[in-house]
Amino acid sequence: MLFFIDTANLDQIQEANDMGILDGVTTNPSLMLKEGIGGEQAVLDHYAAICKITDGDVSAEVTALDTENMLKQGRKFAEIASNIVVKIPMTLDGVKAIAQLTKEGIKTNCTLVFSAGQALMCAKAGATYVSPFLGRVDDIGWDGVGLIEEINALYGQQALTTSILAASIRGPKHIIDAALAGADVVTTPLKPLKQLLNHPLTDIGLDKFMADFKKSQEAVK
Ligand code: G3P
Repeated sequence: MLFFIDTANLDQIQEANDMGILDGVTTNPSLMLKEGIGGEQAVLDHYAAICKITDGDVSAEVTALDTENMLKQGRKFAEIASNIVVKIPMTLDGVKAIAQLTKEGIKTNCTLVFSAGQALMCAKAGATYVSPFLGRVDDIGWDGVGLIEEINALYGQQALTTSILAASIRGPKHIIDAALAGADVVTTPLKPLKQLLNHPLTDIGLDKFMADFKKSQEAVK
């Protein structure tokens, strides 16, 4: 399974990359706003900066709503670097744009997916990734992990090759549950990713080992 980081913050992307376990990056317009990135050139430059940190796939989200302009924007993003993936919303125009970019050999990530039917459309259009938002599904009292399971069963049954990218991760348990449900990729903020490292028994055990090591050093003095 692959680990992507869901942020446009260069320091956090660098930190995750330095951990040696980063496989890619996803962004969206809200994450770009958080970093104060606006204006066409600034957006292109920011994606270029992200692609310099990682050679894993970097999802750059289109902000056009019609197929023609999605294609224009997507092709421009794809020129930035070979690891750019054009992120496109699950709409009729989006599906058309995904189908066309797929024909052109440009990788795509279909975003804002909340149902198995939408995931089926993404795969039929040839999307490289489908992004079900499990946290937002949980937020409305539905079952986000169940959605990943359903898409995984559907894709398995039909031998569809689109990778399931579990998005909208809220905590470390979401990462484990998405992996168990069959997600190929989890994209997560840095905090839940780092929380995977933690266990109180690890801290207690390490303190004891270090204390005993110190004692053994003193004993041989
Ligand atoms: O990048 C899309 C997704 O991960 C958004 O997450 O936390 O805004 O629901 P969130």
